Amino acid sequence: MSRLASPNIQASGIVRRLRPSELPLFRDHLMRLDPESRRDRFNGAASDAFLERYAERCFREGATVVGYVEGMRVLGAAELHERPELDPPTGEIAFSVEKKLQHCGIGSLLFKRLIAHARALGYTQLRVTTHPQNDAMRRLARKFKARLSFEEGETVGHIVLDDVPFVDDAEPDLSTAAVG
Ligand SMILES: CC(C)(COP(=O)(O)OP(=O)(O)OC[C@H]1O[C@@H](n2cnc3c(N)ncnc32)[C@H](O)[C@@H]1OP(=O)(O)O)[C@@H](O)C(=O)NCCC(=O)NCCS
Repeated sequence: MSRLASPNIQASGIVRRLRPSELPLFRDHLMRLDPESRRDRFNGAASDAFLERYAERCFREGATVVGYVEGMRVLGAAELHERPELDPPTGEIAFSVEKKLQHCGIGSLLFKRLIAHARALGYTQLRVTTHPQNDAMRRLARKFKARLSFEEGETVGHIVLDDVPFVDDAEPDLSTAAVG
């Protein structure tokens, strides 16, 4: 059973892949990101219009989008995008958790689930890009044995899936997380 770290957060959602019809929920999640999280997620400013086009493109191009879902709202997301030009088969991954739920374990749950999807799709390697000051993403990546390096002012994490231990990917039960 997966538990969230913060005793102060009421979390009762599940982590699951989003269906095609849930594109608007994903888009609304991205639009609710506060300015700092938007900047961290997209490595720069991102307007609502950009986020709308971005969400639509994710679904149109077949990215795997896993959400942290509470009721009818997506409050966190992990994306897996194919980078067909890279060899061996490589996916680009990205994460977003809404501010009030950050730092209580949801990013780790999303990461774990995304790795299971990446394995199922036959990827052997993942890449994650952020800026060098993004401590949360750097710590999250390290938890999953990403090798981090700097490339042109960005931090790029390389994850070799064979190096990541298999973990129990049972549907996380967050219903016990509200203890505060
Ligand atoms: C990066 C992000 C997805 C992490 O999600 P999260 O739900 O907060 O992650 P977790 O709670 O599972 O924490 C993961 C690790 O990061 C650490 N962490 C979380 N927030 C942190 C913060 N603000 N500062 C430093 N470390 C932090 C946690 O302590 C944990 O490390 P530990 O297990 O070694 O203690 C979230 O902060 C976020 O959405 N940020 C904005 C978007 C972004 O930066 N995306 C990444 C670029 S694609």
